[in-house]
Amino acid sequence: MRVPYNPNTVKTFASSSKAGFGKVPDLERGKVPEDWWYFPVVARMHSERTGYPTQKPEALSERILLASSNPGSLVADFFCGSGTFPLAAARHGRRFLAGDVSWRAIHTTRERLIETLRTPFTLYRETTAEIPSNALTCSIVVSNLTLSLKDPPALDYWEIDPAWDGKIFRSAIQARRPNRSAEIPLEIKMPVAPTNVCVRAVTVDGSLIQSHV
Ligand SMILES: C[S@@+](CC[C@H](N)C(=O)[O-])C[C@H]1O[C@@H](n2cnc3c(N)ncnc32)[C@H](O)[C@@H]1O
Repeated sequence: MRVPYNPNTVKTFASSSKAGFGKVPDLERGKVPEDWWYFPVVARMHSERTGYPTQKPEALSERILLASSNPGSLVADFFCGSGTFPLAAARHGRRFLAGDVSWRAIHTTRERLIETLRTPFTLYRETTAEIPSNALTCSIVVSNLTLSLKDPPALDYWEIDPAWDGKIFRSAIQARRPNRSAEIPLEIKMPVAPTNVCVRAVTVDGSLIQSHV
């Protein structure tokens, strides 16, 4: 990792050949960062802001990621909060594992990943808490690879496991409500032929529900 020299340092070296006691730094390449870093917190109105209470700046995660991995590397953040680190990983072509104990963290992370990623990711959830089943009160129509919801309740997010094993939900494809509109897509094309479909949804009031088709 290199960071730009302070503009005053650049000026000093440009104006005096004696600066630095004859040692001329590579001003173009920049310098190795100090062992303390300054990153402002994510401001209240910043577009990065998710509302997650302990969210860190993307630039901070990015620096750690770029300094310690290569494209294609597998990186992990088991306390991912709002998903800043997996987001940086996805942007820079790293494979990633991310986890968090909190449901809100997982929901925020997957929302951010869906906004950024073009390829699907898999979401595993292990919990002892029951998710209300057959609680998606609408008809679910499967036709070949397409699954549609007819007159669902107001949803923030929904996802499909086309081959649900009844235990671990492997989210193969997702739809989310866009930030500036209430219109969530109600039709999804599944990436593989369905064998045992389970649909999970988060309602606009934040409840997690599911229905087995
Ligand atoms: C400082 S926050 C991480 C913030 C994150 N870097 C971001 O940018 O949003 C720490 C996270 O650790 C999670 N956490 C705390 N104890 C945990 C545990 N035992 N297992 C998994 N996650 C845990 C919290 O839910 C919280 O989201």
